[in-house]
Amino acid sequence: MVNLPLFPFPSARILGIETSCDETAASVVENGRVILSNLVASQAELHAQFGGVFPEVASRQHIRTIYPILEQTLQQAHLGLGDVDAIAVTRGPGLPGSLVVGLNFAKGLALGSGLPMVGVNHLEAHIYSAWLYEAYDTAIPEPDFPLLALVVSGGHTELVLIKSHLQYQRLGATLDDAAGEAFDKVARLLGLSYPGGPSIQQAAEEGDPHAFDFPRAWLENTWNFSFSGLKTAVMREVRRIEAHSAVLPVANLAASFQAAVVDVLVGKTIRAAKAFGAKDILVAGGVSANRALRKAIHAQALCPVHIPPIFLCTDNAAMVAAAGYYRFVRGQRDPLDMDVLPNWPLTEV
Ligand code: KG4
Ligand code: ZN
Repeated sequence: MVNLPLFPFPSARILGIETSCDETAASVVENGRVILSNLVASQAELHAQFGGVFPEVASRQHIRTIYPILEQTLQQAHLGLGDVDAIAVTRGPGLPGSLVVGLNFAKGLALGSGLPMVGVNHLEAHIYSAWLYEAYDTAIPEPDFPLLALVVSGGHTELVLIKSHLQYQRLGATLDDAAGEAFDKVARLLGLSYPGGPSIQQAAEEGDPHAFDFPRAWLENTWNFSFSGLKTAVMREVRRIEAHSAVLPVANLAASFQAAVVDVLVGKTIRAAKAFGAKDILVAGGVSANRALRKAIHAQALCPVHIPPIFLCTDNAAMVAAAGYYRFVRGQRDPLDMDVLPNWPLTEV
């Protein structure tokens, strides 16, 4: 990447494309912040029958959906491809077959239009969702550096210190299940529908978070997380109750599980922010849509907390365009033989 100065930020309109998992999405974003259009076609209903994402079904659905989504996105922004400056596309991490659809589509567009292409890390994209706002809204405050970010999604749970734009120090991550994955697995145990996060949240609203004392894996002296012990504890409780052929207290189990996840996520994030002298905290990724998590971190943090609005927490292409903007203005241009990176970590600088 050419290291052009980041200040002052030049103007640029970026078309974002996202197909890393089970959302097909395209968006146009101006100057890394202003959403001109943002379309997401979720496949959740299609995968609900399997209780999770079925990779081959996901890839084939992306193929069907990506072109209409692009057309509608450009239409909604009242723009043509000639009005954008670059195409940003998720290169990884994610499901290989799903990533390939978006990346090849972006390549076709780049080749046909002559626009430059920028490959974006999906985790970095989640982080940049906190900079976005809609064109008809007033600008929201930008997160301040150094920034402590908690990225919590279906595939990742990471604590990252962000020193300035695109400069990451990965402090810790989950040693086993991602937080979202734990929500999805526990939802299945409780007979709740996929995706598990929203189902557990809804069930938990009727339940008592103190009904069951589930374990919290603090993993002292590290910034790592672990959720598999918690998941096993819920499973044991479910088996114990079922052995007595009693009705599962789903709401209480969901509320107690959610409380355990939220305690650890919030506790460690706030401690890390303090330990590394972060000015602000940022929470992003699908699990950041969780109401209990949002409430707890806002209540407990001693510094400003940035959490994107719910529609930007789960996968979308506006966040890809936002991250792509900062890479584009830094001079990143990727070649047409670029491959997907299904296990791409957030690159440390
Ligand atoms: O970021 P995302 O859309 O996709 C990945 O990059 O993985 O995150 C999806 C994850 C799923 O595990 C889903 O259950 C979880 O985010 N999720 C939630 C909520 N909404 C989505 N978890 C807890 N509470 C929610 N309200
Ligand atoms: Zn995601």
